[in-house]
This record gives sequence, structure tokens and C-alpha cells, in this order.
Amino acid sequence: MPNPSKTAKLGIVTVSDRASAGIYEDRGGPAIVAFLKKTITSPFELLTRVIPDERPLVESTLKELADEAGCCLIVTTGGTGPAIRDITPEATLAVCDREMPGFGEQMRAVSLKSVPTAILSRQVAATRGTCLIINLPGKPSAIEECLLAVFAAVPYCIDLMDGPRLETDPSVVNAFRPKKS
Ligand code: MTE
Repeated sequence: MPNPSKTAKLGIVTVSDRASAGIYEDRGGPAIVAFLKKTITSPFELLTRVIPDERPLVESTLKELADEAGCCLIVTTGGTGPAIRDITPEATLAVCDREMPGFGEQMRAVSLKSVPTAILSRQVAATRGTCLIINLPGKPSAIEECLLAVFAAVPYCIDLMDGPRLETDPSVVNAFRPKKS
């Protein structure tokens, strides 16, 4: 059963050597923050991290946000491609119990309508305990496109894991919850 009284903790992780070194500004993380702020209308708290493409650090950051901070949702950006240092999907799957393949399939399918190189993203979604982790590509323009493609199913996914009840602004995302039979 979803917990309506609980404030949702939402993790945002930018995985980028250059953003974490200050070589360029992180634009992916703020784009995720902007999307969540305009979409979710129930109480939530954001926890943001900017880290390099180092697999042990990505894994420990995901574990910290899921287990110690108690996030019900973590959205990552970056490190999903075929470049040698792209390890976000591997790190995500290594710390998760169950993959949710539909998320990656749908995000790539929608993205492929606007950019042929969307096929290069190995983005996954998976659960660690009661936390849903979703990978997004690093391009800021991919953030909204990918989140809009899947977010209608996110509140119910979190309901099913006994997390806080997320309400959304239907003018941005109409959260779908199947009616009880
Ligand atoms: N998806 C969307 N929606 N828009 C994009 O511009 N870029 C692609 C792909 N997915 C892109 C996208 C490209 S060029 C790459 S290399 C991969 O995501 C991986 O990006 P990442 O390594 O920054 O995660």
C-alpha cells in the first residue's frame, strides 16, 4: 500500500567526469530537477549529487541514496553510451535486484523518433529494494523527452513498492493507476 503521509525523497545523480571536475556546468541534473518540480505536486525532497564516471563511486552513491537517504526514486544522467568510461548502466544493475526493461525500451523508442543516435544509449531502469533507479542520457535535451516517455507509470511503480504516493500535475504528466477490480 502506498504511504500518503510520507515525504518522497528523490535522488538526482549527474555522472560526468567533466561536470564533476568543474570543466563545464552540470546542465543535466538541473534539467531533472526542473522536470520533477513542475511534474510532482505532492511533498518531496531532492538530493542531488555530481560525480565522475567511476563505477565504485556510482555504485556507492546509488546505495547511499537508496539505503541511507531512503529515496524512492533516483534519476541518473550521463554515462549510458558506448564510450570506454560510460559505466552508469553497469553500476546501476550491479546494485539492483530487478531490472525493469520496459523503461529503457520506451525511452529509446521515443528518443529514436527525434534522434537516430538515441540507439547508442544503453540506459536501464531497475529496482534496489523499494527504490526505482532510472538512467537518462547526458544530453540535457534528452532529459524531458525520456522522462515524459515513462513518467506516467512511475507513481504506480512506487505505490507497488509501498513508497510514498506521488501526485502529478496532469497538464504535464497524467499518472496512471489501474482501477481496482
Ligand atoms: N536520447 C535523446 N532523447 N536525445 C539525445 O540527444 N543522445 C544519444 C543517446 N540518447 C540522445 C539520446 C547519444 S548521442 C548518446 S552517445 C547516448 O544517448 C549516450 O549518452 P550518454 O553517454 O551521455 O549517457
